[in-house]
Amino acid sequence: MIELFPAGTTIDADGTLVVGGCRLDDVAREHGTPVMVVAEDAVRQRARAYREGLAERWPRSQVAFASKAFACTAVQRLMVSEGLWLDVAGGGEIVTALAAGADPATLVLHGNAKTTEEIELAVRCGIGTVVVDNLDDVDRLVAAVPAGRVQSCLVRVIPGIQASTHAAHATGHDGSKFGLSAPAAREAIARIRASDRLRLDGLHTHVGSQLMDASELAAAVAPLAVFGEYPVYDLGGGLGARYTSTDHPPSVASYLDALIGAARTHLPPDARILIEPGRSLVAESAVTVYTVTTVKHGTPTFVAVDGGMGDNLEVALVGQRFEATIAKRVGGGEPVTVVGRHCESGDVLSADVPLRDPAVGDLLVVPVTGAYCFTMSNNYNGARRIPVVFADGGEARLVVRRETWTDLLARDVDP
Ligand code: LLP
Repeated sequence: MIELFPAGTTIDADGTLVVGGCRLDDVAREHGTPVMVVAEDAVRQRARAYREGLAERWPRSQVAFASKAFACTAVQRLMVSEGLWLDVAGGGEIVTALAAGADPATLVLHGNAKTTEEIELAVRCGIGTVVVDNLDDVDRLVAAVPAGRVQSCLVRVIPGIQASTHAAHATGHDGSKFGLSAPAAREAIARIRASDRLRLDGLHTHVGSQLMDASELAAAVAPLAVFGEYPVYDLGGGLGARYTSTDHPPSVASYLDALIGAARTHLPPDARILIEPGRSLVAESAVTVYTVTTVKHGTPTFVAVDGGMGDNLEVALVGQRFEATIAKRVGGGEPVTVVGRHCESGDVLSADVPLRDPAVGDLLVVPVTGAYCFTMSNNYNGARRIPVVFADGGEARLVVRRETWTDLLARDVDP
């Protein structure tokens, strides 16, 4: 169980979990529950493994954090401080990236349905790279880029790969809503080349998310070669995270071996390679701490907590399996079903998970919540979105505060 917790997690003498040097009961007392606790050093170690691992294998390279996996200024700032660029999907992630102090030249804009407002914002702030996903992106860019300026673009190509992952996470197959088929990509390339305000620097591709087979990620490289040679190739993200003891995603090193092996075979040796990991950079570095609000004994026994699908949509959306433990009694116990507080039967955090003597008031901890939980959190049933605390060296630092009832009322227009 402890192996699913962030690197550096320990158990205190009284049995309580300690993440980033902070006892989780202390964090809960200070910040309330539910609360997401990020082991800051674990994120940094992962960012370094990516940056150094890629640079060793392909020196002309850059890692861009896929902000969508955990887009808040504190996480984006941390990635920037580790020398990473930021992939931003839309205007909101540009805004937080800039607030985090990112150099606009290091931002890569994505989106299959970018609006005129977003393209204008991107151009105005001096964004480094825009990934063209459709022909309307080209028209909007031509209209937005002022005379005398040239905007660097990549064209997103569908590699024609059906990844072995949840259907909602697959993006590389023919017929995907993301990217362009080969003929459409050729048309986008021609139209970008025809504009003196745009510069086509290369190609982008992304196979999907939560992939457990590095060869499927590497397979996206060869289909790019048919478009000719370019100075830049952005090979996307997609490496899976380890949510349970039965998950065995490739290590960052073996993923990079496979990807760069394919790049050596198919891409020009002097090209610049970008990658955009999201989930695998952050998932395993965070945990969510809840309070048990009620235990309903029966078949199954339901252990209900004060959060749920408002702070973790992954179970309801894609059936992702999460484990759970009582913070001061780690491992062992009888199987129960941990459910959230929301009005939906699919609001299950962990079905059939062993917990030791769960009781009302206990702190319950779900590991591996660092990816896409914060960014897909929501206000269902009037839930206040939960705070984020960075834990490092025994210091717990609030980086995103909990929403308040006032926040919930703030957008309503008084008649
Ligand atoms: N690059 C692009 C263009 C992407 O669309 C994505 C993820 C990534 C990089 C990062 O992929 P990662 O390394 O995180 O697998 N909402 C879903 C996740 C969707 C992934 C979207 N794209 C979820 O709840 O898990």
